[in-house]
Amino acid sequence: MIVAIDGPAGVGKSTVAKRVAKEFNLLYINSGSFYRAVAYKHLSSGKPQENEEAVVSTAESCKFSLDAEDGKLLLDGVPVEHLLRTPEIDMASSAFSSIVAVRKIVNQALRKAAGTLDIIMEGRDITTVVFPDAELKFYFDGSLEERTRRRLRDYQDAQPFEAMKDEIDKRDYNDKNKEFGALKRSPDAIYIDTSYLTIDEVCDKVVQKIFEYTQLKGSGE
Ligand code: DC
Repeated sequence: MIVAIDGPAGVGKSTVAKRVAKEFNLLYINSGSFYRAVAYKHLSSGKPQENEEAVVSTAESCKFSLDAEDGKLLLDGVPVEHLLRTPEIDMASSAFSSIVAVRKIVNQALRKAAGTLDIIMEGRDITTVVFPDAELKFYFDGSLEERTRRRLRDYQDAQPFEAMKDEIDKRDYNDKNKEFGALKRSPDAIYIDTSYLTIDEVCDKVVQKIFEYTQLKGSGE
């Protein structure tokens, strides 16, 4: 079974997907981490950020795999997840993910990581491009203010509220206006506005839908 979740930054996708993965024994894959890993490797190399060819070559050189124990992303065989959440990587991963060749490389790596396993994957174009035939699709949404508050809670080196809000707004714009793989609501995705819901409430909704789906499948309908 493939469960796909898309939505803008700070909407609660990762937290919910991780919990739901445990509940249904699915492999959790955070597609944003793959873009972040490309950005991390490129920024660490000291090569110019504006040079698209150099960014594509960095992406080509990335070997992505998932840790067999905890499912966390390994870049070139090394755990990197704990290094990927900084304001610099937020902006660079958003910019690099607009490059079509980078998206193709990441999409291939995502499908390979999923293999034939039962998975829950979240990102921006999972329901539309990476797994358009996913059995269950969700689109999470949320107000810019609430998503900013959540991001500020997540990041240690917090910026002022307005600066973080502007940054998320810019990322939303980038993510929704890509030539290929833009964030959009798939017509067959279940829409959940998470602005006024707790994480538990969002999880309950997703769990309920998966449960209904598995019941229906089990009954042969
Ligand atoms: O979900 P995230 O914030 O960790 O993602 C980091 C960046 O990667 C985000 O700005 C957009 C991009 N991304 C994407 O373009 N497509 C995806 N499927 C996932 C993330």
